[in-house]
Amino acid sequence: MPIQTETRPTILTGDRTTGPLHLGHYAGSLKSRIALQHTHRQFLLLADAQALTDNAHDPEKVRRNVLEVALDYLAVGIDPDKTTICVQSCLPALAEMTMLYLNFVTVARLERNPTIKDEIHARGFGRDIPAGFLCYPVAQAADITAFKATLVPVGADQAPLIEQTNEIVRRVNRQIGRDILPEATALIPTIGRLPGVDGRAKMSKSLGNAIPLSTPPDEISNAIRRMYTDPNHLRVSDPGRIEGNVVFTYLDAFDEDRAAVEDLKAHYRRGGLGDMVVKRRLEDVLQALLAPIRERRETLARDPDHVLDILRDGTRKVKELTQATLEELRTGLGLFALDR
Ligand code: TRP
Repeated sequence: MPIQTETRPTILTGDRTTGPLHLGHYAGSLKSRIALQHTHRQFLLLADAQALTDNAHDPEKVRRNVLEVALDYLAVGIDPDKTTICVQSCLPALAEMTMLYLNFVTVARLERNPTIKDEIHARGFGRDIPAGFLCYPVAQAADITAFKATLVPVGADQAPLIEQTNEIVRRVNRQIGRDILPEATALIPTIGRLPGVDGRAKMSKSLGNAIPLSTPPDEISNAIRRMYTDPNHLRVSDPGRIEGNVVFTYLDAFDEDRAAVEDLKAHYRRGGLGDMVVKRRLEDVLQALLAPIRERRETLARDPDHVLDILRDGTRKVKELTQATLEELRTGLGLFALDR
């Protein structure tokens, strides 16, 4: 499509390449990306450079998972003809823009960023924070603005990063005296974060409570068998609780038959409905959801060169686009140019 007729809003989002994606990613972001690619100009960033900011001790993990996350994207139905998939560390304009933006933000502001504060705490960094980690919100501002994205789908925990981006955008635009960069809006999923199979608030590979998209059928069964329900629902005849009951939370997220789920909930609350019955239903739903994803993933994984071609194409296309934004900034800021 010629650039002049491109009127769809631009979306940029991405994932750190630290491990394969799981059901939480599917419910929270992948599903909506599959829908958005039909109506928006969508870019997905395999954020390997950002992954390094707290994984510098294990670059091999970060490198390996570029392909794993790409396989997950393609297996769930991200269509490379509709969504451009690219590799962050292969786009030098992003790094250069980060260097420029670092001059438009203070260390104090970065340390106040609620997302960063929580993450520093969770990782136990104390004062020994890798500088790259403290500054990754600036790099993320470079990601977003390099594409001139106006919509950024992220989890609620990332909303402060979009605020940070817009602060940088306003400062840079004011310095240049023209609105070169657009402000961005966070697109936050309306459904809450998917809990882990153990009932903890977040499904996460590092917490060991995740169901990766490539999970084999018998491991799906095991995970559901162990799944957290209502600890006080001891006998089938007892009334049970829906709130905090992971099996029902997952049925809410993945079972298309809303009426049937509501009936089950009412029955469970009344008493007389055993956990096994509800778990069997969830098992059917999840096996049906994940079987085609797993099969497509296995097929794609047999031809890594094909996947690499897709990443190469996407990254090449985006290289020009991001370089063009960088040039606009260089010119706008009046940096020295040898060829003018
Ligand atoms: N921070 C995101 C995550 O933790 C990944 C990411 C990198 C991103 N760059 C981005 C998200 C730009 C949205 C926009 O998964």
